[in-house]
Amino acid sequence: MGLPWLVCAFLLAACCCCRRAAGVPGEEKQPAPTPELVEAEVGSTVLLKCGASHSSGNVSHADWFLIHKERQIPIFHVRQGQGQNEPGEYEHRLSLQGSGANVVLSQITPHDERTFLCKSKRPRLQDHYIELQVYKAPEEPTIQANVVGIHVDRKELREVATCVGRNGYPIPQVIWYKNRQPLQEEENRVQIQSSQIVESSGLYTLQSVLHAQLAKEDKNAQFYCELSYRLPSGNHMKESREVTVPVFYPAEKVWVEIEPMRALKEGDRVKITCLSDGNPQPHFTINKENSITGEMEEIITDENGILALEPAQRQHNGLYQCQSLDLETTITLSSDPQELLVNYVSDVQVSPSAPEAQEGDSLTLTCEAESNQALEFQWLRDKTGQLLGKGPVLYLNNLKRQEAGQYLCMASVPNVPGLNRTQLVSVGIFGSPWMAIKERKVWVQENAVLNLSCEASGHPQPTISWNVNGSVTEWNPDPQTVVSTLNVLVTPELLKTGAECTASNSLGPNTTIIILKLVTLTTLTPDFSQTTGLSTSTASPHSRANSTSTEKKLPPPESKGVVIVAVIVCILVLALLGATLYFFYKKGKLPCGRSGKQEITLPPTRKSEFVVEVKSDKFPEEMALLQGSNGDKRAPGDQGEKYIDLKH
Ligand SMILES: *[C@@H]1O[C@H](CO)[C@@H](O)[C@H](O)[C@H]1NC(C)=O
Ligand SMILES: *[C@@H]1O[C@H](CO)[C@@H](O)[C@H](O)[C@H]1NC(C)=O
Ligand SMILES: *[C@@H]1O[C@H](CO)[C@@H](O)[C@H](O)[C@H]1NC(C)=O
Ligand SMILES: *[C@@H]1O[C@H](CO)[C@@H](O)[C@H](O)[C@H]1NC(C)=O
Ligand SMILES: *[C@@H]1O[C@H](CO)[C@@H](O)[C@H](O)[C@H]1NC(C)=O
Ligand SMILES: *[C@@H]1O[C@H](CO)[C@@H](O)[C@H](O)[C@H]1NC(C)=O
Repeated sequence: MGLPWLVCAFLLAACCCCRRAAGVPGEEKQPAPTPELVEAEVGSTVLLKCGASHSSGNVSHADWFLIHKERQIPIFHVRQGQGQNEPGEYEHRLSLQGSGANVVLSQITPHDERTFLCKSKRPRLQDHYIELQVYKAPEEPTIQANVVGIHVDRKELREVATCVGRNGYPIPQVIWYKNRQPLQEEENRVQIQSSQIVESSGLYTLQSVLHAQLAKEDKNAQFYCELSYRLPSGNHMKESREVTVPVFYPAEKVWVEIEPMRALKEGDRVKITCLSDGNPQPHFTINKENSITGEMEEIITDENGILALEPAQRQHNGLYQCQSLDLETTITLSSDPQELLVNYVSDVQVSPSAPEAQEGDSLTLTCEAESNQALEFQWLRDKTGQLLGKGPVLYLNNLKRQEAGQYLCMASVPNVPGLNRTQLVSVGIFGSPWMAIKERKVWVQENAVLNLSCEASGHPQPTISWNVNGSVTEWNPDPQTVVSTLNVLVTPELLKTGAECTASNSLGPNTTIIILKLVTLTTLTPDFSQTTGLSTSTASPHSRANSTSTEKKLPPPESKGVVIVAVIVCILVLALLGATLYFFYKKGKLPCGRSGKQEITLPPTRKSEFVVEVKSDKFPEEMALLQGSNGDKRAPGDQGEKYIDLKH
């Protein structure tokens, strides 16, 4: 029963084959259909049309094939307007587009670069071939320069740089550039070796190596590679960054460099360096001409061949020369000799070295110095820096004692900025000591340790002594001046006596008196420091509010003054009261006894006596103190002023 069926099936199949075989030669007879060219980028989606003409209505029967090695492999069917995928490579990527037999192929890969065929039976259309071309831009090319470097004297091609462009399709073209000029392959000069690998994705990675023979001029040459490729949109290119390659070449010239490149002076930091036009710098030695024999002698330098003179001195002057040794070629080169000139000024001498004169006399000071350059002399007053004269000689006429002291001679070289030397000389003018301050007041606290100082000048130099015991330190700002500092403990005796310093020399003594004033009240200290004293009469509202506490803090030695003030104020109050009472009494409005009035009233003469006593006090500072406490006690109101008004 199976056999007839089998035979039948075989016959049917044979029949079909015959028909197809017969059909193919029939098609071949027609002019070979030119395939339609379709371009697509990797990853994109492309429309494959079943015919060149626009789709004419519904297709009820069409088939899509892939041409592979002359064979037609079915990949898609259209039946009654419905698409059917054939299992296989294109099963999930093909879909029907519209009502015709056009299909869409998605996620294009380089493997899709093939020929597709569409056969439509109903309606019957001409077979349509499509050649799909796939493109993909390569990634930005990377470039790697030869880091070891290239010797120019070697006559062979050396690797200059390698360029890599990843994942392009089809293989991009590579062009090498030197200084923006494209490089052509050239026998024994430029060679470009390119190779590619196919990634599993089907994309190409291109590697190109540039070999070249470089010259000294190529030391700064910029190399880069460019990839050119095609996309459906047209031609494009991508460039790598630019690289340079270390180029080595022997020196042809050697020279000496002296830094800094200005007029040099003693004390400068000077650097002598050897340089050449070779790369790398050769090994250098520095020679210096022996000023006696005239021969060049090698000097010890540091390992870089640099001679550092710090500080430079006049004995460094002379001719210097550099010598190079190329270890590669063993060629020795010498530089032209170069002169080092370190300018100098010798020590300055002033004569006489210890000038002295009587007041009213004259003095001549002479300044001398040596230099390799023209010198200029200046005379200055040391303390003030005042310019007294130019030139090596200074004349001092009709000397006054104020002109005693330090004089400075400066010898400088105008051509060399900053080159100068100086010498101080002390001019002594005979005279007894001259005190910086004749009398001085110092505010102190009892039991405090303090320093009292005393300054005297004179010629011969004075000596200083103190009338109180304490430790003394002395120093001399200049040969004519002595400053003595006495470190003492403030005792009641010291407060009483004060301190006196006596300066004396062979021509006589002079003294400074230091008066010690006690101060314990910190809030009133600013008033004490004022020497004008009496003029301040108005107490601030602040101090008035604290008047009671201020009063209590007053020290015992000052209580005498306080008592006086208290008495004055009492008298003023009483006088005012008396005047008022008297006024009322006269008006007859006070019905009290006469005895009270007589006790209160004071004669006007007494009042003025007290005022005079205050004004005759020794020190203005003390007056200020009195005034301050007086003002404080006056509160409230302006009774004092009223009293003054009454008085006048
Ligand atoms: C194609 O077929 C659809 C139904 O399958 C129908 O609606 C449409 O009119 C047909 N178009 C043409 C041009 O025959
Ligand atoms: C003198 O030399 C010192 C350094 O040695 C410099 O600082 C100064 O400016 C110089 N003075 C003059 C007037 O040239
Ligand atoms: C003492 O020194 C003062 C300067 O503080 C001065 O005016 C006075 O003339 C000097 N006395 C003598 C004797 O030199
Ligand atoms: C006094 O002078 C000495 C030495 O000069 C110093 O150490 C000390 O601090 C000074 N004392 C005061 C209170 O200035
Ligand atoms: C200074 O001290 C000495 C002893 O060292 C003493 O004899 C003399 O009286 C003291 N003088 C004063 C002023 O204190
Ligand atoms: C004076 O009084 C004011 C307030 O009235 C206070 O702030 C200040 O500390 C006082 N000063 C003294 C020295 O007591």
